[in-house]
Amino acid sequence: MFEITKRDGLARLGKFETKSGIVLETPALLPVVNPKIFTVTPKELYEEFGFRALITNSYIIKNNPALKEKAQAEGLHKMLDFPGVIMTDSGTFQSHMYGEVEVTNDEMVEFQKSIGTDIGTVLDIFTEPFWPKEETADSITETLKRTQHACDIKGDMMINGVVQGSVYQDLREDCARKMADMDIDVHPIGGVVPLMEQYRYTELVDVIISSKKGLNPNRPVHLFGAGHPMILAFATLLGCDLFDSASYAKFARDDRFMFIDGTYRIADMQSLDCNCPACRGHTLEEIKKMEKSNRERLIARHNLYQITSELALVKRYLKEGRLWDLAEMRCRAHPELLNGLRRLKEHQAFLERTEPISRDAALFYTGSESRSRPIFLRYYRKLLENYVPPTNKAAIFEDSPKPYSRHYVSDFNRVRTAGYTPIVRSPFGPVPADLDEVYPLAQSLFPEIWDRETEEDVERMMDEFIKKMGFIDVREQKDIEPGEIEYDADLLRAKATAAYQFGKESADALFKGEIELIKSRKTGKIRNIISDGEHVLSLRAPDGLYTLRPEGAQRLLKILPSPKMRCISMDDAVPFVSNGRNMFCQFVTDMDPEIRPMEEIIIVDKDDNFLATGRAILTFDELKSFKKGIAIKVRSGSDDS
Ligand code: GUN
Ligand code: ZN
Repeated sequence: MFEITKRDGLARLGKFETKSGIVLETPALLPVVNPKIFTVTPKELYEEFGFRALITNSYIIKNNPALKEKAQAEGLHKMLDFPGVIMTDSGTFQSHMYGEVEVTNDEMVEFQKSIGTDIGTVLDIFTEPFWPKEETADSITETLKRTQHACDIKGDMMINGVVQGSVYQDLREDCARKMADMDIDVHPIGGVVPLMEQYRYTELVDVIISSKKGLNPNRPVHLFGAGHPMILAFATLLGCDLFDSASYAKFARDDRFMFIDGTYRIADMQSLDCNCPACRGHTLEEIKKMEKSNRERLIARHNLYQITSELALVKRYLKEGRLWDLAEMRCRAHPELLNGLRRLKEHQAFLERTEPISRDAALFYTGSESRSRPIFLRYYRKLLENYVPPTNKAAIFEDSPKPYSRHYVSDFNRVRTAGYTPIVRSPFGPVPADLDEVYPLAQSLFPEIWDRETEEDVERMMDEFIKKMGFIDVREQKDIEPGEIEYDADLLRAKATAAYQFGKESADALFKGEIELIKSRKTGKIRNIISDGEHVLSLRAPDGLYTLRPEGAQRLLKILPSPKMRCISMDDAVPFVSNGRNMFCQFVTDMDPEIRPMEEIIIVDKDDNFLATGRAILTFDELKSFKKGIAIKVRSGSDDS
């Protein structure tokens, strides 16, 4: 059972419960343990490093008579002396390295069961990146057959169904989609080791995204063979939940230290700047002079500490809603990783579908690649679609400290009295003054000196926006003299925000008749919108977006065709939801497929009667596959006042 507790980008903080009842927090990395030699013992991995899961190779165990007998007699957990989750691989990687293996899928699955593995692996076929498409497609057909068979005979063991497909995105997505229909527990993305060894990160990005498109979101995704600390933030951002690392030990054997910015040979290092528990108290010279096995162990432990500390950092950034920042910073460690980051632009629209409506943390611009974050696309698309300029003349302002309407108080007023709508040239593109507090416009930090991509993008967007809005007069703000026109800045802001967030038609329904704006006495900011005596909306200070009140929701139900903005509840859940309890996945019968995470949503019964309002935690695509967990955080039921 896999449950998601927090998300950011495609990344998920999850809880994965295995059949033995151990709950693994994801993202997690499983160190690879060679059953023949322990550089670091499984017990140390558990106790000293805190790893709650490891991966070992059942093919190696099966081919070694002593190990095989021991594993079958006492079970893998006892043999390795490891109380956590044990995953085993099947021999596929050996076939990639050394050619055909002389075992069958059936044998390998049965063997893994016989040694008490928690999560076993199908004997999949490793699709090499140099294979022609036809050969790749044929081998996927065989892998799918083997995977279905493994599901049929897996018994109490969980099973890894490995997505293959080399670099062919359509084959990957298709393979993933077919596996989503099988009774698989974990989805490794396989066949990617050569891509990572050759630093082919743009293809790795395509492979991960195309696999994610087809997979069932209620299962953890494992990036097979990825365990370098430098890639953890980026791969987590792309939705990988599990990783494994053999390199901590392999590199140690070759006297190589792993760091978040790369791998360094001890012979090339001029000094050691590491304070991990393994390195602490040692100089580089001392380590160089150590006896080989002691040095190997020290470096292996150093490598593990690099992995655990980076993973802890990834989790912190994920929880704080800042994983994009970290991934972008990390991708600067190597030009090819940066290439991978740049490739994300191709997948911006797909990423936008799961991008939350707002975040707790401000957006930090780390460089022109930040422009490919889905939030940029979201803002501009919604602006073009939903914004209605209050006048047909525009006054253009330069970017300034935020919020713009505080910085430009008197200038905005001057141009407005002359009938001009103030528009700021921001790094996001045009920002009408009335929207300047909406997330992420106010909740973002950019360098004052723009890069060329920002200059060019903004230029293009300004032109397009001005044309599309039909402004008949556009001027630099400085050239405009004050006039006599009266306006209500608060009302303009309140309406523009509603149109941006819910669409023009909904904003009209919410703002009909007599409008009263209730403002905070402390900050002077708009808090509540009362329309014809009904409290329809509340404005949230942190993200500048609205919370939909029950009276507002009922107005929207009247004008929007079902299932727009709705989540339709099963009868069983009606009494609970209308009392303000959260809506759980298993009780949803239908939902607006366009709702994004953290967006306002209205819960109704099957006859479209209002039950509650809340914020969507999952998209409809996601919740369809979840058997458990909160789908909608319900705010106010119809029964509570
Ligand atoms: N280890 C690294 N890559 C792979 C893969 O594609 N399949 C399996 N089973 N193990 C792997
Ligand atoms: Zn160290």
